[in-house]
Amino acid sequence: MSIIASNFKTNHTRKSTASFVQEVNIFLESNEISSEVYLFPSSTSLNSFQTVSNLTLGAQNAYATQNGSFTGEIGSLQLDEFSIKTILIGHSERRHVLGESQEEIAKKYAFYKELGYKIIYCIGEPLEVKETGLEKTLEYVYEQFVGIDTNYENLILAYEPVWAIGTGVTATNDDITKVHSAIKSKIDKPLLYGGSVKVNNVREICALDGVDGALIGTASWIVEDFKQIIDSTKDL
Ligand code: 13P
Repeated sequence: MSIIASNFKTNHTRKSTASFVQEVNIFLESNEISSEVYLFPSSTSLNSFQTVSNLTLGAQNAYATQNGSFTGEIGSLQLDEFSIKTILIGHSERRHVLGESQEEIAKKYAFYKELGYKIIYCIGEPLEVKETGLEKTLEYVYEQFVGIDTNYENLILAYEPVWAIGTGVTATNDDITKVHSAIKSKIDKPLLYGGSVKVNNVREICALDGVDGALIGTASWIVEDFKQIIDSTKDL
């Protein structure tokens, strides 16, 4: 069964998120689709949405705290208000654009693991590392597991090569299969691929060996496209 996740990043408002969630919910329900679907809206658009059991709302980020003095951050208390129990950790934009260190990421991971959250943990190499070959790519990716309990029962992994994110350049099937099979040989967890997944390649990618689903940014932000993505992977 495919896992399909949409990362809204810094897109959609409270209002457009609410209608997006409702549309996806109706779509899943009326078509009796049982794929595991996750939506990660911006924190200002989180709410107590009523959804079918296979549609889950999660947070793109939160600080490793229940509450406190961390200007601009949210903690688990703010997520509890909406019964959010799912979080993305280690996304490349948080690592590379917002400067989160592996140490901070590991702390965040431990905090939300302790609270029993479902964690979608992201890993992936930048272009300069990819260009040095598979072995170095895997070394880089394994470093991103330092301090992370990979035996955690509520863990989903997402391999998102940095050079493929938001660039329109999807990793080749060969790239994806090689990295996925290497990661899977070490860590027995569901593993999503992310990085320029599109309406017209999602099925092929999700059907690859070692790919359990997709984490999608750009191509998922128009609800009609996202519904098409869900539809085209529903039997995988
Ligand atoms: P794009 O689908 O826009 O490449 O983004 C992927 C991603 O970062 C999902 O978390």
